[in-house]
Amino acid sequence: MAATSAPYGDLTTQGASTNIAWHHASVDRAARAQQRGHRSAILWFTGLSGSGKSTLANAVNAALFERGLACYVLDGDNIRHGLCKDLGFSDADREENIRRIGEVSKLFLDAGVVVLTAFVSPFKADRDRARALVANGDFIEIHCAADLAVCEQRDTKGLYAKARAGEIKEFTGISSPYEAPEQPELRVDTGRQSLEQSVEQVLTHLGAAGIIPQAG
Ligand code: ADX
Repeated sequence: MAATSAPYGDLTTQGASTNIAWHHASVDRAARAQQRGHRSAILWFTGLSGSGKSTLANAVNAALFERGLACYVLDGDNIRHGLCKDLGFSDADREENIRRIGEVSKLFLDAGVVVLTAFVSPFKADRDRARALVANGDFIEIHCAADLAVCEQRDTKGLYAKARAGEIKEFTGISSPYEAPEQPELRVDTGRQSLEQSVEQVLTHLGAAGIIPQAG
């Protein structure tokens, strides 16, 4: 019989493992939230390479940490050194990358942590699959909406120049598409506004959404 009474998500789909059963934890998400004094959430930063996802996610993380919240950043470049080091940048590998990050984020959510993910995550379907793993309101999509021209001009890692020269294949924005979110919970103009303004915008949203106590 399929396990339908798991604490979150739809677990009725059978994976490669059979003869497995869901174990209910005696310490659940609600208990963790009560002890910590705040909800958990997934803050899903998406945007082109160089759009400021990691910078913004890390700055928001520092602000949350300072307020005593349990928080953690999962960053594309870092995760590709470990959990996802077997993956490249084909559409299929990006899909698998985002699938794993969605599942890991869901574990962080259950652990009572505000998890901030900073992945290009260029495909809408992949982001929507990650969103569908958790309940409404737990997934906050934050589009770091710097224009391609700005990202390319910054070229902090020198990757756009390499992509233009054909040295990197399937580079997002150049030779692989970026599907911008149509209705993200939050759009941040990381191309124009200062980091401080962007952090403030995210914190204000988290306050209004009841994830962190409202300032004031
Ligand atoms: S994702 O598309 O699967 O979400 P992810 O966020 O993990 O990508 O990794 C993107 C980072 O890898 C970029 O910030 C960039 O530094 C580097 N990178 C290397 N090759 C590519 C590529 N072909 N397309 C995009 N980013 C790349």
